[in-house]
Amino acid sequence: MSRKLILILSLLLVFLLTAVKAHNVSKNEQKVCALQHRSGSKHFPSNFKFGASTAAYQIEGGWNEDGRGPSIWDTFTHQHPEMIDDHSTGDEGPDSYHKFDKDLEALKELKVHFYRFSISWSRILPNADISSKNQKGIDYYNMIINKLLENGIEPVVTMFHYDLPESLNLYGGFTNLELIKYFTNYAKLLFETYGDRVKVWITFNEPYDYCIPGYGDGNYPPMGHDHGVADYLCMDTTLKAHAEVYRLYRQNFFEKQKGKIGMTLSTRFYFSKTNNSSIIDRAMQYSLGWLAYPLFGETGNYPQVMLDDIAKNSEEEGRAWSRLRSIAENERDIIKHSADFLGLNYYTSRYVEEANPAQGKKPSWQYDSRLKYELDVKWKRGKSNWLYCVPEGLEGLLNWIKNNYNNIEVIITENGWSDDGQLDDMERIDYLKAHLQAVLNAINMGCNVTRYTHWSLIDNFEWQRGYTEKFGLYYVNISSAGKERIAKYSARYYKSVIESKIIPDFVAGN
Ligand SMILES: *[C@@H]1O[C@H](CO)[C@@H](O)[C@H](O)[C@H]1NC(C)=O
Ligand SMILES: *[C@@H]1O[C@H](CO)[C@@H](O)[C@H](O)[C@H]1NC(C)=O
Ligand SMILES: *[C@@H]1O[C@H](CO)[C@@H](O)[C@H](O)[C@H]1NC(C)=O
Ligand SMILES: *[C@@H]1O[C@H](CO)[C@@H](O)[C@H](O)[C@H]1NC(C)=O
Repeated sequence: MSRKLILILSLLLVFLLTAVKAHNVSKNEQKVCALQHRSGSKHFPSNFKFGASTAAYQIEGGWNEDGRGPSIWDTFTHQHPEMIDDHSTGDEGPDSYHKFDKDLEALKELKVHFYRFSISWSRILPNADISSKNQKGIDYYNMIINKLLENGIEPVVTMFHYDLPESLNLYGGFTNLELIKYFTNYAKLLFETYGDRVKVWITFNEPYDYCIPGYGDGNYPPMGHDHGVADYLCMDTTLKAHAEVYRLYRQNFFEKQKGKIGMTLSTRFYFSKTNNSSIIDRAMQYSLGWLAYPLFGETGNYPQVMLDDIAKNSEEEGRAWSRLRSIAENERDIIKHSADFLGLNYYTSRYVEEANPAQGKKPSWQYDSRLKYELDVKWKRGKSNWLYCVPEGLEGLLNWIKNNYNNIEVIITENGWSDDGQLDDMERIDYLKAHLQAVLNAINMGCNVTRYTHWSLIDNFEWQRGYTEKFGLYYVNISSAGKERIAKYSARYYKSVIESKIIPDFVAGN
């Protein structure tokens, strides 16, 4: 090849590479993470409350200290490091078991009205059973609750956030209805011990997200691979355990303690490219509706579309009964309206279409639901491969809830954005700003949203992603001894929202 030709080819290559790069940049610039104010007030209502959220296994560390028993997440991370991206564990993490005061400083600096945290069941009851009561574990949460209240921060407590005591796993965990008795006794202890000071309780966090991966797909503990069967039993046990605890509280504690109880469900919102509202409804029934309809609908039973489809598919598979365990008549009365509010975790949305023929393993939730999903090229993506910024989805979702569940009270218990953990987290600010706008728009349209909780207060152990994806308003260097909590730009932004109850354009104090 002549030198001239090589030169021309090299120039051509440089030109092509530059063109590809320019194309990518312009594509990136087209991505959006913003939402316009619609109409009505620009202020959140004066009684609207802002908070921040964490979960025990993700922040506490101290996994075997002071008598704590193992949970399925301890066993899983210890026995299957290959299942965690960076082979890490929550053994130490941000170490909130020893460093709660640093979390408290962050909460005070933000001026949040409330703090949503979860209690580690096996720290209080190492064997899950009431006979194994561990005073040091009980004291830890008393300390947290008291210090929060001393500083004018309301405790909002999740009873269960993925970390099932290992001892119950030996009995089949959530596939065994026996779990209801154990959970009810645990909840009773929580009411007796903390109920004088805790007035907002969340029984379970995101059942769909521990049942499907834990008992269906096998990528979460306890690594069950019985999709379309065991994961459905897990959802059913969760619902029935929640309802029992609600009734227990109303009968024995409410009169004195005057608190409220709800469940936190995660869901996406769905859009249709052909404006087909029936496919949106199907997608919503199969996600949020699975447990929200029994709780907030009129039948106390699963959505009719799920009952019908799964019964039909089960019969075609030659089964003697439906894989979706039925809810008996007397149980329906216990389940119906057994929640004072809906806890909502919202992160992202999808376009949806009918999958024809059904896709996925047979049987499975994917197979039964006959749905397939699409993205919009305009949606900006976070570090997490599933997380796209779609604030209009939150606005749509809140309106859907208003229209379908009689405008029940909604507490947004999680909403947040993932990145590498940098302090100048401008993308998190964009996401936060857009989603607060979605909440405000929904409120101005009459939606009954009373609180917003950002996930998360601090960077923490992000389950299978380990420490590779960060959601915190505060940075934590996991490998440093002091594990200082350092405010990111988003923390300053959120603080100015909380102080002013409006959505400011700029980051205060930068
Ligand atoms: C769907 O509805 C939107 C808003 O109502 C409208 O702008 C759009 O043209 C509709 N699309 C189709 C395919 O009908
Ligand atoms: C809307 O979706 C439903 C459910 O997939 C389907 O049965 C119906 O034919 C669709 N309607 C239109 C107008 O496409
Ligand atoms: C909001 O929800 C609460 C509790 O469910 C209810 O008492 C109240 O009437 C609702 N507010 C509106 C405006 O619907
Ligand atoms: C985190 O802490 C370790 C140990 O003190 C230190 O070597 C490292 O530089 C720190 N990382 C950052 C990003 O500050």
